Amino acid sequence: MTYDVAIIGGGPGGYVCAIRCAQLGLKTALVEERELGGVCLNWGCIPTKALYAATKLLGRAATASEIGLSFAPPEIDLPRLSEWKDGVVSKLTAGVATLLAGNGVDVISARARLAGHGGVTLSNGGTVEAERIVLATGSAPIEIPSFPFANEAVWSSDDALALERIPERLAVIGGGVIGLELATIYRRLGSTVTVIELLPEILATVDLDRRAIGILKRSLKTQSIDVRVGTKAEGFEPATPSALVKLADGDEIAADRILLAVGRRPNTADLGLEEAGVEIDQRGFVAVDAQLQTTTKGVFAIGDLAPGPMLAHKASAEGVALADSFAGRAISSEEKLIPQAIFTDPEVASVGLSEASAKDGGRAILVGRFPYAGLGKALGMREPDGLFQVVAEEKDHRILGVQIIGAEASDLISEAAVAIRAGLTLEAIAETVHPHPTLPEGLKEAAEDALGRAIHTIRR
Ligand code: NAI
Repeated sequence: MTYDVAIIGGGPGGYVCAIRCAQLGLKTALVEERELGGVCLNWGCIPTKALYAATKLLGRAATASEIGLSFAPPEIDLPRLSEWKDGVVSKLTAGVATLLAGNGVDVISARARLAGHGGVTLSNGGTVEAERIVLATGSAPIEIPSFPFANEAVWSSDDALALERIPERLAVIGGGVIGLELATIYRRLGSTVTVIELLPEILATVDLDRRAIGILKRSLKTQSIDVRVGTKAEGFEPATPSALVKLADGDEIAADRILLAVGRRPNTADLGLEEAGVEIDQRGFVAVDAQLQTTTKGVFAIGDLAPGPMLAHKASAEGVALADSFAGRAISSEEKLIPQAIFTDPEVASVGLSEASAKDGGRAILVGRFPYAGLGKALGMREPDGLFQVVAEEKDHRILGVQIIGAEASDLISEAAVAIRAGLTLEAIAETVHPHPTLPEGLKEAAEDALGRAIHTIRR
């Protein structure tokens, strides 16, 4: 069959790109070898967030006696919990299939490989010809030889999300986003959790300020999640009944399961890239230009495969921008503003520049902060730990970056993203009436603080 656009990979990059291409009147094929929705819907964001929400109840119930509400110790029906999580996933994947069909996208269930000269070959023996090909094959967990996934003691994030058991002791290798999100969930389910991080700080790959990391570290400690930084997990002895994880500092940690979360790498293998002339950069990403075109004309790459943060919403934004560019609208640099939301307890969210990055860039800046403890809503929610921080240009007060650590930070960050994208100033947020009592008041107060006129905090 001949198409205007053929997309390889049906995750949040590929399926969104396919729908927008079809909306623009382009004849579009989407080739996916596994489930529609990709890692995010099936084995990543969505099942994690379902478990995050479910296990949050456990944490709240455990401490509710402090406010006079006592519950019996919880009973966890793991198969039922898992079934519910799978139900959330299947509702969404079915929704994706309906959207693709409703927009007239041809979905082909097969593995695709570039064939050169504008075509792809399919594992079912077929071929697809297309004027433009979009690579959206995503990423996979990095495996290290000392912790092979083939060993049943070693879990990938997929294994952890399969929810087949709650290990009594869980060792998490990697204090990055995945390691800390799953550490939070398993701790709430009752596992004793140790996180081992090679670098001197957790979440080192995210541009966060010291204060935010400090609040998270204190909270991890309160949750009895043992975090060891600055030490390498070198290997493990598969002793019975539990494994012994060996650390570079000589310590050993007994664990029933070891979750390996040391990063992800782009899925570039066996796609026929080299033969087609598609180059890969030094970090393993497919090299693309500002219009997301690879080194081969007519072949594009989006999402985890292309440089930038490995985030579902970055993939979707690139998918839409690329489709629009096929219809003649050039991709603008503003579409590069990618917020991040991390589902730890408390949540961590950021958009734009951190204070440190803004200063490194030589800018004169204003910084404002407001603590969750100053918000009536947060106190009523029993969520007093957290901070709003806003960074703005000193000369014109234009907002450069916001970091929020605290309850619902993942939802609160979008107001800041709109503000930065729209080029708004501190005054725009400070002078916008925010309903009381709500959490977004914290951003307004932080903006007022940056202007030296906060009502509910004393500037030091
Ligand atoms: P990551 O890059 O965030 O963290 C991996 C950590 O493992 C690094 O800090 C690294 O120093 C450490 N490490 C490597 N080898 C080690 C060893 N031998 N011993 C101890 N520590 C070691 O990668 P992660 O957490 O696997 O996530 C992968 C990608 O997925 C990231 O780009 C992340 O942004 C994305 N993601 C984002 C989510 C979100 O924003 N909510 C959720 C899940 C994934």
